[in-house]
Amino acid sequence: MRELTQKDSKVEVTGTEAKYYDTLMNIITLGTYPSFIKRAIKDLNLTKGESILDLGCGTGRNDCIMLKYIGEEGSIAGVEIGKEMKEKFLENCDKPNIKLIDKRIDEPLDLDRKFDLVFISFVLHGFIQEKREIIIENAKKALKSGGRFSVLDYNEFDVDNSGFFTRFAIRKIECPLAEDFINRDWKSILGKSGFSKFEEKFYFKKKVRLLTAMK
Ligand SMILES: C[S@@+](CC[C@H](N)C(=O)[O-])C[C@H]1O[C@@H](n2cnc3c(N)ncnc32)[C@H](O)[C@@H]1O
Repeated sequence: MRELTQKDSKVEVTGTEAKYYDTLMNIITLGTYPSFIKRAIKDLNLTKGESILDLGCGTGRNDCIMLKYIGEEGSIAGVEIGKEMKEKFLENCDKPNIKLIDKRIDEPLDLDRKFDLVFISFVLHGFIQEKREIIIENAKKALKSGGRFSVLDYNEFDVDNSGFFTRFAIRKIECPLAEDFINRDWKSILGKSGFSKFEEKFYFKKKVRLLTAMK
């Protein structure tokens, strides 16, 4: 396989796709996205008062759900660069304890506070490995000691031996970086970056995983 570059990525969502991103996700997943994401966020085991950093927060759909668990005493900071995504986020998350940080997550990120949880949902697969490592480093730096890093993204699986729909989605709809992500051992990668105590939850017939590790 040829060497992948960041130009192969589709992770920067803009224009019409960004404006209708949540609806598109509902359609692509045949209407199952709302119940899936509610379940995945429940599986984060959030508690009242926690602080969350959401890397590549998109429209803020996930943040609105997370807010129900952390309450008014908790807080969320979403990091995002997409113009339309930022507009949607501000529209959807107009709450005093949710703020938007207009910065890139794939460059060293200096934040003025630490968080209980760093969450990244369907973002990490869209970067070349070098940039994924910068993002992981950003997550580690932003966490309190004992804080959790939760990656909601594709699980590791054998794409060749998957059903037609999965192969089509990964090889024709997704960017090539997604298959590269699927082929890597993420517990080992996060372990080498200093994370431990892994917990996993699976969705969509184990094609999607919520991988949580502790700093
Ligand atoms: C596939 S969407 C996922 C959005 C959201 N996390 C979700 O699960 O609905 C990827 C998001 O990451 C944002 N993004 C891509 N590259 C980024 C970067 N370098 N820095 C910050 N955000 C980025 C995109 O604009 C987009 O909103």
